[in-house]
Amino acid sequence: MDEAKLNDFMGRLVADMGGAAVMANVILGEELGLYRAMADGALLTPEQLAERTGCHARLLREWLSAQAASGYVEHEDGRFRLPPEQAMALADENSPVYVAGGAVVLASMYLDKDKIATAMRGDGALSWGDHHPCLFSGTERFFRPGYRAHLVSEWLPALEGVTEQLQAGAKVADVGCGHGASSVILAQAFPRSTIHGFDFHGASIEQARQRAAQAGVSDRAVFTQARAAEFPGSDFDLVCFFDCLHDMGDPVGAARRAHAALKPGGTVLLVEPFANDRLEDNLNPVGRLFYAASTCICTPNSLSQEVGLGLGAQAGEKRLRDVFMKAGFAHFRRATETPFNLILEARK
Ligand SMILES: C[S@@+](CC[C@H](N)C(=O)[O-])C[C@H]1O[C@@H](n2cnc3c(N)ncnc32)[C@H](O)[C@@H]1O
Repeated sequence: MDEAKLNDFMGRLVADMGGAAVMANVILGEELGLYRAMADGALLTPEQLAERTGCHARLLREWLSAQAASGYVEHEDGRFRLPPEQAMALADENSPVYVAGGAVVLASMYLDKDKIATAMRGDGALSWGDHHPCLFSGTERFFRPGYRAHLVSEWLPALEGVTEQLQAGAKVADVGCGHGASSVILAQAFPRSTIHGFDFHGASIEQARQRAAQAGVSDRAVFTQARAAEFPGSDFDLVCFFDCLHDMGDPVGAARRAHAALKPGGTVLLVEPFANDRLEDNLNPVGRLFYAASTCICTPNSLSQEVGLGLGAQAGEKRLRDVFMKAGFAHFRRATETPFNLILEARK
C-alpha cells in the first residue's frame, strides 16, 4: 500500500463527491432561477438574492457558499457575484456553452438508480420511456445549445451539397428526434424544407409537436411516433440521427431503413458523442461523462430492444462505420467534430 497514492486518490474522490453534491445544487439553481437572477453580475447578499427569487435567505446562504467553494460564484465580504463566463454556462439557455440542462440528465441517473440496479442484476434492459421524465427534458436542454451553435453554421456545411438542398426545399427525416430540438432548428433555418421527426417514445413526440407549435413551424416540422427501423416515408433528401443511433437496439436496421428511405444521392447526417475507437483513448473527462451516462441510460435502452446490439455512447467512428457498411451504404466519412460530438456523413 502506497500512502501517497492513497492520499492522492482520496483527494480525487472527495473532489468528485463534492462535484456530485454540487450538481444537486446546480439543479436547484437552474430550477429556482437563482443563476438567472444573478446573471447581471451584481454583488448580492443572500437576502438580496432572496428578494429577487422569493427563496429562503438562510438556505440561499448555504447554496451560495457551496457555489463559491466550487468557483461557480465569487465571494466578497458576505456578498456573492456570478461572473459573466459562469453566467454563459449556467444562466443563459441561448448561450452555446449552456450546460445546466446536463445536470438534469444527471439527476435522472440518481432518481432511476433502483431501476438501473435491477437491469444490472438482470437482463441489462431499461427502456428510454421507463426513466424519470426529467431525463427527457434534461436531454433536450443539454443538447439544444450545441445544435443551435453548430448545426446550421458548421455541421450542415461540412456535408456535400446539403445546405443548398435545404435552402431550395428538401424532405428531411429526423430519426430519434426526442423533443424535436433539432427538427425545430432545421425548420426555422430552412423554411422551404419539411422535417419529419420520428421517435418511438410517444410522450416525446407530444412534446416535439408542442415545441414546433411554440416556434410557429408546425406546418413544416411534423412528428410521428415510429421505431427507427420502421419509420414511414420515402424519397428523403436527408436522414438525420442526432445523438440517438447508439441508443437503439438495432442500429443496423435503422441505417438500413434510412438507406431505403433516401432518394438516390441522398445523405445521412449522423451526430454521435465524441469518442475514439479504443477504450484506452477515451479515458479522459469527456469519455468519463459519456461512459457513466451510457451505463445508466444509453446501453440499457439498446439492450431493451430487438437485437440489443448495445453500441454504447462511446462507440467511435470505426464501429459506426461498420453499422452503415452493413446497412448497404457505399460512403462513410467524418465530416467534422467538436469536443463533444462526431459529425459523420453516409451516402448510398
Ligand atoms: C439521447 S436521446 C436524443 C434525442 C434527440 N435526438 C436530441 O438530440 O435531443 C435518444 C432518443 O432516441 C430515441 N430512441 C431510442 N431508441 C429508439 C428506436 N429504436 N426508435 C426510435 N427512437 C428511439 C429515444 O426515445 C430518445 O428520444
